[in-house]
Amino acid sequence: MSSFLIAPSILSADFARLGDDVARVLAAGADVVHFDVMDNHYVPNLTFGPMVCQSLRDFGITAPIDVHLMVKPVDSLVPEFAKAGADIITFHPEASDHVDRTLQLIKDHGCKAGLVLNPATPLNILDHVMHRLDVVLLMSVNPGFGGQSFIPTTLDKLRAVKQRILASGRDIRLEIDGGVKVDNIAEIAEAGADMFVAGSAIFSQPDYRTVIEQMRAELAS
Ligand code: DX5
Ligand code: ZN
Repeated sequence: MSSFLIAPSILSADFARLGDDVARVLAAGADVVHFDVMDNHYVPNLTFGPMVCQSLRDFGITAPIDVHLMVKPVDSLVPEFAKAGADIITFHPEASDHVDRTLQLIKDHGCKAGLVLNPATPLNILDHVMHRLDVVLLMSVNPGFGGQSFIPTTLDKLRAVKQRILASGRDIRLEIDGGVKVDNIAEIAEAGADMFVAGSAIFSQPDYRTVIEQMRAELAS
């Protein structure tokens, strides 16, 4: 895998042909499947759960699946998603009563673990859990919907998180989610992100390969 990971959000995929659409985006050069789980409680939208993740595995999808839990409570879904084939599980700290325990639960189930920080969530939530993290996911929109615009103040937040990651000396991915497009991915990378979720930017185009190649060209520039 390259040091920059492109993770299409299947929130914007064709749900009626999900297996085919996911296979198509991976064949077009994507690295990771970003799987947005929404519960109409923590966020005002409703998507899919572990059964759909399992179906993608049964369909033959072997790429890493990055499960972004926008649900409350969190813990009961962790074993379910681990069993269904998740590789990474991230959650919002506001949605868990015991953040450290939830992180441990994810690791105990053999998955990589991460925290997701909303635009208004302060960074100090990271202070005492860096040693448990494989991923920090910064939301660059408020969670719940695809197709929103990137919030520019996220760039400063990315720089601050990158500093914390470097200071920790740990191998932690810095993932960005929301409003990522060909025309802003370079400055987002420059601010420190190394894993890029993109939903509408990729799935709205007829040719996924062209968009992904354009993103990689921007990242190489
Ligand atoms: C929003 C989701 C995102 C979203 C990204 O709550 O977490 O993954 O689908 O969509 P775009 O790339 O369209 O902003
Ligand atoms: Zn997401």
